[in-house]
Amino acid sequence: MNEYFSGFAAAAALSLFAITANAQDDYPSQPITMVVPFSAGGPTDTVTRLISEPMSKELGSEIVIQNITGAGGTVAAGQVAKAPADGYTVLMHHIGMSTAPTLYSNLPYNPLEDFETVGLVTEVPMTIVARKDFPAETLQELVEYLKTHADEVTLANAGTGAASQLCGMLLMEAIDTQLTTVPYPGTGPALTDLVGGQVDIMCDQTTNTTGQILGGEIKAYAVTAEERLANLPDVPTTSEAGLGDFQLRIWHGLYVPAETDPAIIEKLTSALQVALQDQNVIDRFAELGTTPVSQEGATPEAHAEMLSSQIDLWAPIIKEAGVSAD
Ligand code: MLT
Repeated sequence: MNEYFSGFAAAAALSLFAITANAQDDYPSQPITMVVPFSAGGPTDTVTRLISEPMSKELGSEIVIQNITGAGGTVAAGQVAKAPADGYTVLMHHIGMSTAPTLYSNLPYNPLEDFETVGLVTEVPMTIVARKDFPAETLQELVEYLKTHADEVTLANAGTGAASQLCGMLLMEAIDTQLTTVPYPGTGPALTDLVGGQVDIMCDQTTNTTGQILGGEIKAYAVTAEERLANLPDVPTTSEAGLGDFQLRIWHGLYVPAETDPAIIEKLTSALQVALQDQNVIDRFAELGTTPVSQEGATPEAHAEMLSSQIDLWAPIIKEAGVSAD
């Protein structure tokens, strides 16, 4: 390489460094899109909208929520995996990031390789609920009814890969009964149909069901937690109600495409940590039976660890249940 060229290359490298350094220093300098992989009005959407407000204040940039539905959350994840790694496209996803690799043989992304983790957001149990005139008053009566009327009962979910699908799968396994499942683009619209009586039962996060349970618009048989929830004191736990150790906690986390600059991820993580200490977020989460993670949980490391351990946890359980999206 001659002197001029190497000098030119050095100058080019320097100015490229300056541009890159600036891009990180100035981040965010335009609105951030936060992608929700399910319908508006559902639990993932609710959690995202709640944290996006204080995150936006902290980052000094608008956060635009975009709902991209389909295939149990995998359509949105596939799109974010291919988005530019510039911090302007962030994915909110849940436990489905860890079940999809086993459910889909042709998943168009690898959760461990195509994303960087930003931090965990919440943990939330699920409720087993039914339309309000469903002919069962307790979980024991529900199980009995499902076993004897399996081909008449419809079970709503948000598609293969959704939390509601995982919970429904575990319920059917636990009672050794197959029901007809009805997929929706999210449990927001599924809940509307449950209230309207168009579907019979559903397993859904308390974030979505608490209001309708307390308002008497749907029946709740059990909460998939170790202990009763403060805001749903009359709803027994699954083990109290006779379903043994059937427990399920859904976790949410934020992701950006692989190879996003660590300085950008650090800014997003800090904003997430601030949002999780925001009083309005804490109060609304408490009303919805949704627990914000600790500051240690809202880190890329804790999130990465959760993701990989949950992939390992769910793979044999899903295989054993013989459930697949293919
Ligand atoms: C949603 O936001 O609609 C839910 O998280 C769907 C689900 O996973 O059950």
